[in-house]
Amino acid sequence: MTVHFIGAGPGAPDLITIRGRDLIAASPVCLYAGSLVPKALLGHCPAGARIINTAPMSLDEIIAEIVQATDAGQDVARLHSGDLSIWSALGEQLRRLDALNIPYTVTPGVPAFAAASAALARELTLPEVAQSVVLTRTSGRATSMPETEDLAAFAATRATLAIHLSIHVLETTVATLIPTYGEACPVAVVFRASWPDEQIIRATLGTIAAEVQKTSIDRTALILVGEVLAAREFRESALYDSAYQRRFRGRES
Ligand SMILES: C[S@@+](CC[C@H](N)C(=O)[O-])C[C@H]1O[C@@H](n2cnc3c(N)ncnc32)[C@H](O)[C@@H]1O
Repeated sequence: MTVHFIGAGPGAPDLITIRGRDLIAASPVCLYAGSLVPKALLGHCPAGARIINTAPMSLDEIIAEIVQATDAGQDVARLHSGDLSIWSALGEQLRRLDALNIPYTVTPGVPAFAAASAALARELTLPEVAQSVVLTRTSGRATSMPETEDLAAFAATRATLAIHLSIHVLETTVATLIPTYGEACPVAVVFRASWPDEQIIRATLGTIAAEVQKTSIDRTALILVGEVLAAREFRESALYDSAYQRRFRGRES
């Protein structure tokens, strides 16, 4: 029997993959990771499924549920918000399942940073403006940052930043970035991208903290920083340049 780890997407229930939806529908046990996983997805579970919110559970308790299901010959759908490749606790669960010889699959999902960029209708990489996106966070109560992953060090690249899990320390985050990006650099805070109560605050590094203070946003938000958010005078990409197309058609740029 198999444990299917599934990226549940950023919030809107129709932003799950067809594969993810079908695996939920085929699994008699569903473990979902708390309030960021849209409850509507649980409607895909088969009738009589055992559905458990793992938010209050320890890793030991979660693994015990998985072992109980697989011992009973049941597949498990394990849902985490967004995609599984970032901040999903996938690594520690896979390590336990490897030790127990329990098979698993991993199905990707739409990450929050992609949903936020869609909400803003902005591309996060633009020719000659920014060609990298840094997915990062600041230290939290439970998780410290590796010494070399200092926000100021990422800021030195002036790449587009997608800062997670940090809205509660917005002021210090902004203060760290201003020396390199400048006060006028565009910033967007996207709260609950793709949920019905989504909110978007567009401002600059100099003004964003005051703007967010006027709202009740204190969690589940992304801070996007970079010139791409407002750039208008950028070069068109070579990919669709007619001369380039003739010479390199079909090759990756
Ligand atoms: C534990 S991480 C999960 C990230 C997730 N695995 C992903 O792929 O996006 C939770 C953080 O992701 C961001 N986040 C998750 N869902 C979001 C959404 N719908 N809108 C904005 N930010 C979101 C917030 O910064 C939140 O604090």
